[in-house]
Amino acid sequence: LANVDKVKEKTLAMIKPDGVEGEYADVIKKTILDSGFEIAHEIELQLNEDTAKNFYAEHSSKSFFPSLVQYMTSGKVVIMVLEKENAISDWRALIGPTDANTAKETHPTSIRALCGVDTGRNCVHGSDSPQSAAREISFFFDKSTSDVSQRHDEL
Ligand code: PPS
Repeated sequence: LANVDKVKEKTLAMIKPDGVEGEYADVIKKTILDSGFEIAHEIELQLNEDTAKNFYAEHSSKSFFPSLVQYMTSGKVVIMVLEKENAISDWRALIGPTDANTAKETHPTSIRALCGVDTGRNCVHGSDSPQSAAREISFFFDKSTSDVSQRHDEL
């Protein structure tokens, strides 16, 4: 069984508005590829309020929800499906802790240490479980993903 392919996993990665505006997208994508991920799909789009609210629905009761929605609609985002063995946990490890200030102290080589500011403006997103990865990928991409542009025109 030595030649059996390792099972690849998919996760959803997002470069948030401050990452795109600060021109971090290229260095983030280079880090992604250098870390062994394939970028299976990629779209750049402007989230509207409804889309941001739906995407983050699980946080709708949190006090930070309005500022999260405001931030996520403040400019364009880049959304990617990343693929590799262990993609979900490896991408979370690569981005570092949610609070970019913590990232700078404890994970100085992480992406959030590079381009994040605080807990809200933390530059990148990653799915936190297989369930959320499945939900978040189908939230933005059709099953076939051959029709991404049509789908994203609706967002
Ligand atoms: S929680 O309460 O533990 O579930 O929340 P957490 O995992 O820390 O964060 C979930 C997402 O909400 C964002 N967040 C914030 N946005 C704006 N302001 C504040 N204060 C704030 N706190 C948390 C945080 O960046 C997470 O976004 P994602 O895209 O999931 O990383």
